[in-house]
Amino acid sequence: MTSELITGISELTTNDPALETGLGGRIRDAALVVDDGRVAWVGRAAAAPDADRRTDLEGRAVLPGWVDSHTHLVFAGDRSEEFEHRMAGHAYAAGGIRTTMAATRGASDEELRAAAARARDVALRSGTTWLEVKTGYALDVEGEARLARLAAEITSDVTFLGAHVVPPGTDADEYVALVTGPMLDAVAPHARWIDVFCETGAFTPEQSRVVLEAGRRAGLGLRVHGNQLGPGEGVALAVELGAASVDHCNHLSASDVDALAASDTVATLLPACDLSTRQPFPPARELIDAGATVALASNANPGTSNTTSMAFCVATAVLQMRMTVEEAVWAATAGGAIALRRDDAVGRIAPGFRADLHAIDAPSVSHFAYRPGMELTHRVSRGGAEVPRG
Ligand code: NIG
Repeated sequence: MTSELITGISELTTNDPALETGLGGRIRDAALVVDDGRVAWVGRAAAAPDADRRTDLEGRAVLPGWVDSHTHLVFAGDRSEEFEHRMAGHAYAAGGIRTTMAATRGASDEELRAAAARARDVALRSGTTWLEVKTGYALDVEGEARLARLAAEITSDVTFLGAHVVPPGTDADEYVALVTGPMLDAVAPHARWIDVFCETGAFTPEQSRVVLEAGRRAGLGLRVHGNQLGPGEGVALAVELGAASVDHCNHLSASDVDALAASDTVATLLPACDLSTRQPFPPARELIDAGATVALASNANPGTSNTTSMAFCVATAVLQMRMTVEEAVWAATAGGAIALRRDDAVGRIAPGFRADLHAIDAPSVSHFAYRPGMELTHRVSRGGAEVPRG
């Protein structure tokens, strides 16, 4: 493989704390060298070494590829009617998940595979070079194992979310026994994580604990959907059990914020979902000021967040959630990497990291929020290979 020197970078967001230039580790008038799929050198253009070939980005900004740490990409069906109903004033309820369950159970492997690959490709072309994918729309043993196998075709961060909701006609405790027994046995070989929707209308804190502890015994890392639709014990449980991430976090008490700040559990915020469900935004400012690690993710799914646009999430976090541009971009790259415990490999542009690069048609990342909704992506490379524009 030949090495590539990339120049003409007006602003390089490295997220490298060693540079001591702020959270984003930003360098002006920068260059970088990619060799064998990895970043080999980063610095000021004036000091750049030579390489086998050169690319001039002509004054564009470069940032790490987005790390989308929360998606539900393997599903079938459409819930635009439910969305329209919600926009007419009806509240979101977790029960909509069962609509997608029925459509997903009825879809063939080929249909699910093609739809997930299409969604992954759209995300990749807009800069998402790493993503997590959850199961959770089959809710039976064979079906959840099938979704995990299909998800594993597009990511090595597969999350088992059999505990998404209790399927219709099933006793909740019997379902928890199924999830923590035969379903876990069938899914665990394809998954890295286990997740539970700890919320009124889904699983109680006690049931959630049983699910997470079983997942841990099976060797899976822990993630939690918590405090999305109302205050609750999801965040406290996630922190107590040392989950890598607790996602949503819309309704937090002061002690939830303190607990997150004192822990290694990442607070993953999902602004596109909050807009689509008309939930209050999570207290991003309070979390960051208290010292919690915050990630931003798309929560791409057919019910509450039918988008894979991380740029939209970043713009919303800045414009509506009082995050700075630098914090939001960091949260959607390095923050996501920490939430997936992949921060030794992705989410940063530094020697040794995978060369996942996102060059934009703008001189600075501030344009994500300054020109919201505009298509800014110029070029994406993953592992040093340029992604075709499609
Ligand atoms: O993250 N909160 C639970 N799960 C999804 C919703 C999925 C759906 O409604 O289909 C979420 O928002």
